[in-house]
Amino acid sequence: MSKPKRRILVTSALPYANGAIHIGHMLEYIQTDIWARFQRSQGHECYFAWADDAHGAPIMLRAQAENITPEELIGRMNAEHQQDFKDFGLSFDHYATTHDEANRECVEMIYQRLEEGGYVVKRTISQFYDEQQGMFLPDRFIKGTCPKCKSEDQYGDNCEVCGTTYTPTDLINPRSAVSGTEPVMRDSEHHFVRLSEFENRLQNWMTSGALQPEVVNKMQEWFEDGLRDWDISRDEPYFGFKIPGTDDKYFYVWVDAPICYMASFKELSERIGLDFDEWWTPDTDTELYNFIGKDIIYFHTLFWPAMLMGSGFRAPTAVYAHGFLTVDGVKMSKSRGTFIQARTYLDHLNPDYLRYYFAARLGPGTGDIDLNLEDFVFRVNSDMVGKVVNIASRCAGFIHRGGDGKLASALPEPALYEHFVDQRELIADDFEQRNYQSAIRRIMALADEGNRYIDEHKPWQLSKQEDQKDNVQAICTQGINLFRVLMTYLAPVVPFTADIAAEFLGRPLDLWSELDQPMLGVAINKFQPLMTRVDPVKIEAIIEDSKENLQAAGEEAAPALDLADEITIDDFLKVDLRIAKIVDAQAVPEADKLVRLTLDIGGETRNVFAGIKSAYKPEDLVGRHTVMVANLKPRKMRFGVSEGMVLAAGPGGSDLFILTPDEGAVPGMRVT
Ligand code: MSP
Ligand code: ZN
Repeated sequence: MSKPKRRILVTSALPYANGAIHIGHMLEYIQTDIWARFQRSQGHECYFAWADDAHGAPIMLRAQAENITPEELIGRMNAEHQQDFKDFGLSFDHYATTHDEANRECVEMIYQRLEEGGYVVKRTISQFYDEQQGMFLPDRFIKGTCPKCKSEDQYGDNCEVCGTTYTPTDLINPRSAVSGTEPVMRDSEHHFVRLSEFENRLQNWMTSGALQPEVVNKMQEWFEDGLRDWDISRDEPYFGFKIPGTDDKYFYVWVDAPICYMASFKELSERIGLDFDEWWTPDTDTELYNFIGKDIIYFHTLFWPAMLMGSGFRAPTAVYAHGFLTVDGVKMSKSRGTFIQARTYLDHLNPDYLRYYFAARLGPGTGDIDLNLEDFVFRVNSDMVGKVVNIASRCAGFIHRGGDGKLASALPEPALYEHFVDQRELIADDFEQRNYQSAIRRIMALADEGNRYIDEHKPWQLSKQEDQKDNVQAICTQGINLFRVLMTYLAPVVPFTADIAAEFLGRPLDLWSELDQPMLGVAINKFQPLMTRVDPVKIEAIIEDSKENLQAAGEEAAPALDLADEITIDDFLKVDLRIAKIVDAQAVPEADKLVRLTLDIGGETRNVFAGIKSAYKPEDLVGRHTVMVANLKPRKMRFGVSEGMVLAAGPGGSDLFILTPDEGAVPGMRVT
């Protein structure tokens, strides 16, 4: 095995910094980590560097909601993410955030080079603007009626009913999804990258083996449609990097997120002393691989390589896309408790179980991967515990009892050992091709052979005969050596278990080339339980906790609550909610529940009867602000006409809470 040493950089897609890591993310990160660990096990130099995706409007809004700065928010999330990753055994060398200075430098440099190369054009475009919110609206923040099929409540970019794509201005009756108001058109200058300039280079790259066949097909469709200019700027308010030479324009997140693959490596190279240029100049012999999910192929096979090509850097050696994780055959679901956060899983189960199961399911393609919970328990228990660990646990005791802890000095069946080691190339090839399921199949077939060997030689019987002592030691030495081969192959997949095995064997398992020589005549340590069986009760606990997380986060678990029928945003907008000031409140003596409220909604007063007598003293209500339905048809009641309704939460009686807006809301403001 003396192949030339490769120099490899691998990355995963950057998780958004406004949310917790879940097991869908972990599918990708485990896939990447197995590959990185595998490359190192072949003696190659391999780094795994990536980051949090910390920019964009959602992060800005979440920080606002939590009353902290975006920097505080992303700092906290970064620490949480890294802890999850470490606890899942991810062997990353560096973890940055897109907000780092190193990234700003890379982004500005690349932008400057693109500009100098004539790839950037500026054009004034007219875009929907939300006057109430004071912001330009991204396509996804605009809703309206589909111009083609007339379905209501469709996003600004495409209709989910008939599949037509269009621009927001094509929508009939457009509405801002932020404020519910009708947006107006406003001009703004935007910066674009002329992607069509890269068409030939992208096509050459695409067919150089850099992409999976199904991804190449997808790209061909995009080329047929023609590559349009890519809008890389966003107006204020935005959380991101300012475009140099402007004072109110920011780089779109999809500019600085992929560039952070480079920036993260840059930080790493400075930390451990690598030559940055050797990794990023065009004709380098170093390799760059980006692992991503199938939902972000477009960004990684057009924008990202185009930015690199246009600024004089190397393109990725390959971009590898995987499919989506489903749980028990369906999309991860919050209400079913299958939207499992990484931390929730870690609270209950050994990370190697999930790593093993994902490996057993992952192939080289972009098909979805199912985590079938029953199969998960079965596979881990029967393969890892029942086959692999079993070999060691059946042999270890005899080595200590009969052979004073030392392995025999020769293998009784060297051919069987050779046969195990001969599979090395095939298994390595599977890992290299990301066909982990095939690798696992081969490894488990060998594990079956190993168990058969022990079954046939029955050391537990022979050990009862005094004259068979050497024979027992030899058989168990064979068994331990077969186990060592298996664990070496599995080490990239189950690193925690491999560490315990290495401890037991008294040598590291991290280089496959070490298998050239069996372990003979040396002492081994006492056997320690390597992996226990998955307890199905733990799975139930994870599901329960995932449902709880959801409630703690204030989200509603659909089946647990009796929710009203779904309505469209248009239905909702029919309700005219207003901030109201309670200027007077009088108990209605003849009714045991009712209070008569006089509400000021900004220049107009309304008389409303509210059933809140058991919860509030009328005089305590005077002067407060609340929310009312202002366009409710007036109702004639016994004591007068009620001209609206105030909003309150709770089951009723004394358990009733009227809603109060935050300070700053004034009577008459529309609530959306
Ligand atoms: N921030 C962008 C990526 C920028 S890369 C320059 C993003 N973030 S994400 O948090 O939504 O997703 C991160 C990665 O996790 C993506 O590759 C995505 O495909 C993957 N997954 C997120 N949910 C997933 C599943 N349910 N299943 C499998 N992969 C999933 O996209
Ligand atoms: Zn439609």
